[in-house]
Amino acid sequence: NLTPTPADKFTFGLWTVGWQGRDPFGDATRAPLDPVESVNRLAELGAYGVTFHDDDLIPFGSSDAERDAHIKRFRQALDATGMKVPMATTNLFTHPVFKDGGFTSNVREVRRFALRKVIRNIDLAVELGAETYVAWGGREGAESGGAKDVRVALDRMKEAFDILGQYVTEQGYQLRFAVEPKPNEPRGDILLPTVGHALAFINSLERPEMVGVNPEVGHEQMAGLNFPHGIAQALWHGKLFHIDLNGQTGIKYDQDLRFGAGDLRSAFWLVDLLERGGYQGPRHFDFKPPRTEDMSGVWASAAGGMRNYLILKERAAAFRANPVVQEALRASGLDELAQTTLGAGESLADLIADRSAYEDFDADAVAERGMAFEALDQLAMDHLLGVR
Ligand code: GCO
Ligand code: MN
Ligand code: MN
Ligand code: MN
Repeated sequence: NLTPTPADKFTFGLWTVGWQGRDPFGDATRAPLDPVESVNRLAELGAYGVTFHDDDLIPFGSSDAERDAHIKRFRQALDATGMKVPMATTNLFTHPVFKDGGFTSNVREVRRFALRKVIRNIDLAVELGAETYVAWGGREGAESGGAKDVRVALDRMKEAFDILGQYVTEQGYQLRFAVEPKPNEPRGDILLPTVGHALAFINSLERPEMVGVNPEVGHEQMAGLNFPHGIAQALWHGKLFHIDLNGQTGIKYDQDLRFGAGDLRSAFWLVDLLERGGYQGPRHFDFKPPRTEDMSGVWASAAGGMRNYLILKERAAAFRANPVVQEALRASGLDELAQTTLGAGESLADLIADRSAYEDFDADAVAERGMAFEALDQLAMDHLLGVR
């Protein structure tokens, strides 16, 4: 069934369908989109919820009365449609004050302002029912070597997450943080550039259990990395708290294409992994409908991402269910990989005493075994292309 329903848990950032198409070379091609309109249209398309940066909902510099009015209208739209807000985040990148970053700006008063801006929006996020708070450090970085002492900047980054963790803990909020890695853009180089860097950083925090990752398809691919492998490792660490789905065609600027555009094979393995790997969180789309599109193109792009996810989910399930595939997986040794390398009850001493493991091991004979990966991958291709 390729019709999305809230049970599919598809969510969209207000900034995605609301992107006006402003880029470094051209002005906006679309009018501003009212967040209420986004909630209504996305609900009609079958989405589960929306997410937002503070400034997407409440323009930077709004008075308290204006802020309350924006929140009230938004809440009414959520109540009327049943749409949820499972995640929120902070804009620490648009205003010029953040030109050298938020948590790691060299300017101390900017760092203090950034923390207060996050804290204010955390309160709103929790009021609206969010369970995850994303931190994308788009401006945390540098263009030149002397501009940032990276080790000291990481001290400040850790300080920020430790303070925010303390705040959430003291308030008794049920909220977890998700760090979103990106290698570059808008900064020349961004701190915590990949899933791996972020996972290592999290281990150094005061409350590592409160912090996971929010990987984005295109961001890992901008670094030439295998996205499903990164997601598999995040799952293995219990750190996949959220995910940003979109499309990217190789190592270039952040394209933010709709999910399913770009590397389709990678998208197939990603959906296969998410559906089999126990990920229960929202399937969150973070894309930018190209600036060639009018509003009907925007909604087509939003619908297309959900449709592609559901197509790939059906194709991956068909692949896994096919007995021919199951035999091919065995022929490729996937069942053997699942066996421990030492036998049940076998000790290190037993391994060392096992002559068949080394002294009598015939490496040349064992090397003759083909892995049959090509036949297996063609079966995947056949399923992906719908001929099986
Ligand atoms: C990007 C990023 C951003 C963040 C978002 C959340 O495309 O560079 O994905 O879109 O996800 O701003 O803070
Ligand atoms: Mn992106
Ligand atoms: Mn993102
Ligand atoms: Mn984005």
